[in-house]
Amino acid sequence: MGKMIKLLLLMALIFAVSACEESNSQNGNDGKAVPAPKAAEKETDKIKIGFSMDTLLEERWLKDRDLFKEAVESLGAEVEILAANGDDAVQIEQAETLISQGVDLLVVVPHNAEAMAAIVKKAHLAGIKVIAYDRLVKNSEIDLYVSFDNEKVGEMQANAITKLVPKGKYVYIGGAETDNNAHLFKRGVFKVLQPLIDKGDITVVYDQWSKDWTPANALVNMTAALKANQNKIDAVIAANDATAGGVIQALAAQGLAGKIPVAGQDAELAGVQRIVQGTQIMTVYKPIKALTEKAAELAVMMAKGDEVKADRKINNGKIEVQSVLLSPIAVNKRNIDQTIIADGFHSKEEVYKVVEK
Ligand code: BGC
Repeated sequence: MGKMIKLLLLMALIFAVSACEESNSQNGNDGKAVPAPKAAEKETDKIKIGFSMDTLLEERWLKDRDLFKEAVESLGAEVEILAANGDDAVQIEQAETLISQGVDLLVVVPHNAEAMAAIVKKAHLAGIKVIAYDRLVKNSEIDLYVSFDNEKVGEMQANAITKLVPKGKYVYIGGAETDNNAHLFKRGVFKVLQPLIDKGDITVVYDQWSKDWTPANALVNMTAALKANQNKIDAVIAANDATAGGVIQALAAQGLAGKIPVAGQDAELAGVQRIVQGTQIMTVYKPIKALTEKAAELAVMMAKGDEVKADRKINNGKIEVQSVLLSPIAVNKRNIDQTIIADGFHSKEEVYKVVEK
């Protein structure tokens, strides 16, 4: 019986070895280990990031899109980008598409700070982490928030304008109420204004959000502010350069452009040109390249499963979100060259073209 078992085992061994040799010879390999096909392996290993954007309507978001793509690709990963044209339903659908495509990580610029919480949940169910880019996703278990210090942006605007107009009637033209940043910018502004309001030096005579950040809505707001105050306004803070554009259009219609100082934000080319022309007194420059590089670096790290430690925590209504906040830079007529132009954000030629005309 024992002999029988040994014989059977020996036969099985011979069969296995010959089957193995047969398969190796079919592969054109003489029994050596088969090296993995390199190109194919790289393809399947490549990290894929999904980038869900609110809109591409404003100049800055085109920079964000292009520079983020560049930064992700320079790290050997790839990115699929979808923009939703300011529509919540479209953004949710697009983010779902990215999740079902099996991206390794999702980066989101939410149109609506609350609505995108549903996507964070869905992504997590699929095992995908989510980074909030520039704008926070509220009431969600978002994995990381990468942005600028947005409260600081508002402080910079108010500091610049109160230096110029320490007393008088102020108008605040806010951004989109659905964007958490609009609240942070406003908080920063009022942090500086409040002591002056309390002292009776400043009165805020008009304060409204501008739906979807559009210049058209800011124009309507500013027109209403002028009318309600018989044009007697001393200073305007607009939440960004797009809304500042609408404000300045309303002022121009009353022959007041350049006479009432207006602050904006983003260092959009049109905003910087208005500073040169004298219809806007300042903007806030946020180096987008630095933001995209930071976000790309952290996105790829997280997608690979590496732990990311951020230096700040920000409450989003549900959790303390790990946050990385970069520094904004206040820009006026005097430092355009050393900031925006020195960084190549806009060329000297473009910025000063308007005054040469
Ligand atoms: C961004 C601003 C931008 C605004 C409108 C905000 O969330 O931080 O830079 O101007 O959205 O798109």
